[in-house]
Amino acid sequence: MNPRKPNTSKYAASHKLVVYGVVLMFLVLISLAMIKDKLCSNTPNLTSGLRKQVEYCKVPDHKKELIRNLEPLIAQEPLDIWEGLGKEEKNIKYLPSIMDLSSKDRFIYIDLGAREYDSSIGSWFLKQYPKQNKTFEIYAVEADKSFHKEYKSRKGVTLLPYAAWIRNETVVFGSKPIIVKDKVWRMRPFGRIEGQKAQEDKRSAVVKVQAFDFVDWLKRTIKPTDFVVVKMDVEGTEVTLIRELVERGAICLIDELFMECHFDRYVKCCSGERINRFNFSYDQCYNMFSELRKMGSFVHQWWIIF
Ligand SMILES: *[C@@H]1O[C@H](CO)[C@@H](O)[C@H](O)[C@H]1NC(C)=O
Ligand SMILES: *[C@@H]1O[C@H](CO)[C@@H](O)[C@H](O)[C@H]1NC(C)=O
Ligand SMILES: *[C@@H]1O[C@H](CO)[C@@H](O)[C@H](O)[C@H]1NC(C)=O
Ligand SMILES: *[C@@H]1O[C@H](CO)[C@@H](O)[C@H](O)[C@H]1NC(C)=O
Repeated sequence: MNPRKPNTSKYAASHKLVVYGVVLMFLVLISLAMIKDKLCSNTPNLTSGLRKQVEYCKVPDHKKELIRNLEPLIAQEPLDIWEGLGKEEKNIKYLPSIMDLSSKDRFIYIDLGAREYDSSIGSWFLKQYPKQNKTFEIYAVEADKSFHKEYKSRKGVTLLPYAAWIRNETVVFGSKPIIVKDKVWRMRPFGRIEGQKAQEDKRSAVVKVQAFDFVDWLKRTIKPTDFVVVKMDVEGTEVTLIRELVERGAICLIDELFMECHFDRYVKCCSGERINRFNFSYDQCYNMFSELRKMGSFVHQWWIIF
């Protein structure tokens, strides 16, 4: 009889237990992940399946190299977003600070969601953005009529009095109220494309405005030899716009993009509650930024400037 045998099998038994334990834990984790995916399936991966399309609007290799020099994306959701605004601006790597613009034909700045002239064209683009002494044609895209007057007398700025959208059509624009439990906050009107339902809700501050096919416009207006900077602050419509810009091969016409991705954040109004005002989480926004960079888009998180 081998005296060591009982020992060995005891060892084998505990070894087996460890193996089963690990496998079981693995299965539990996978199921948890699947349940989580299922729960989150109404908030889809914002950029999945887009890579193939972007390859046909080709990003040159030297541009991909420049993207490696960009300021890192902020991975952690900033909980003090309003207090933190602007403090990251010094970290921004502007494209013209690392690239010579002299080979470009035209220089164009497009402000989607322009609001007041001084909210970003005057205060940021003309003052801060490094332009290498080039004169930029400026397009202010703003559907809210209350801002239109001040653009009438601005030289060098073309107002496009429409909402930036993916079709030429009339849309419901403004804001619907925030409702938390039995409380209703009527937000000041802000420029966002809402569903038809928002118009029927009497508490909404919405109007009907003309929207235009921004992707189509970009393709008709811009040549690959132009240098194009876009600021996109469109209150949640960015996810749809980005998807179509990529799918319709127009994302490569934008040399540098400053985008606010609107996520479901804590807001001051409602005692630290997330209010489901926007459909996407900070993580989903973060993933969209990093996917865009991987695809070759020189994109910045806009809220870190303003
Ligand atoms: C989203 O989809 C892309 C492409 O399929 C993938 O690379 C990325 O990891 C996905 N992101 C998440 C958060 O699942
Ligand atoms: C822009 O113009 C100013 C004044 O003419 C000049 O001093 C400066 O070097 C120029 N900068 C570039 C990047 O060409
Ligand atoms: C949208 O409207 C503009 C201006 O009327 C027109 O030139 C353009 O072709 C239209 N785009 C589409 C996709 O219909
Ligand atoms: C959020 O999702 C709801 C339901 O899926 C949809 O009706 C609404 O238009 C979305 N809102 C935004 C801003 O995308």
